[in-house]
Amino acid sequence: MNVQPTLATARLLLRPMTFADAPEVQRLAGEYAIAANALDIPYPYPPGAAEAWIAGHEEGFLLGEIAVFGVVLAGEDRLIGAIGLMHIDRRHQRGELGYWIGKPYWNRGYATEAASAIIAYGFAGLGLNRIYATHFIRNPASGRVLEKCGLVCEGRLRQHVKKWEVFEDVAIYGIVREDYRARGGAPDQRFRRT
Ligand SMILES: CC(C)(COP(=O)(O)OP(=O)(O)OC[C@H]1O[C@@H](n2cnc3c(N)ncnc32)[C@H](O)[C@@H]1OP(=O)(O)O)[C@@H](O)C(=O)NCCC(=O)NCCS
Repeated sequence: MNVQPTLATARLLLRPMTFADAPEVQRLAGEYAIAANALDIPYPYPPGAAEAWIAGHEEGFLLGEIAVFGVVLAGEDRLIGAIGLMHIDRRHQRGELGYWIGKPYWNRGYATEAASAIIAYGFAGLGLNRIYATHFIRNPASGRVLEKCGLVCEGRLRQHVKKWEVFEDVAIYGIVREDYRARGGAPDQRFRRT
């Protein structure tokens, strides 16, 4: 059976989430600054929503549709965020990168470190050819994370999404396998399985 791995980076472990993570997901993702910048996170964050979200991860992984990881500080097993590949499309061998990091942990390079590992896993572990991501135009920090991970801005999709009853423009970023290799991305060197 295909088991979701745990990935290790210099400072982080990216591991499958469990129901024990739910209270911290609710606390961190429930902050307005997270919900406002992530398409599908509600505000206020309802009780039970974290458990319902986590409950779908294993089946989604086994179906080959998603690979969602909790981002934890190595050594402490303290959850600081979530990251993963969504909308995995086997026919086109592509997936959409998404993430959030709890506000107390911002601007320490954690999103970049985690995303780099997930990109390596997407190419090497899942055999993807393309990884893409979008962010609200009003959220440049996310664009910076993507740039630091080697994704290229491919354009602006006008009013592509509706967040809290407002149509919003998003920037779309992508990286393809050949670009990743060309920039020295030796997939197996950016993460290791524990
Ligand atoms: C976006 C997010 C994941 C970044 O996490 P993080 O761990 O702070 O990211 P990093 O520390 O790896 O990198 C952040 C970068 O953005 C930059 N940045 C921060 N605020 C910024 C702003 N207002 N404008 C431009 N750049 C900004 C930082 O300076 C840093 O770049 P640098 O290393 O060149 O200085 C985090 O802010 C978050 O979870 N936001 C809410 C949810 C969200 O936006 N998810 C993504 C949806 S697409």
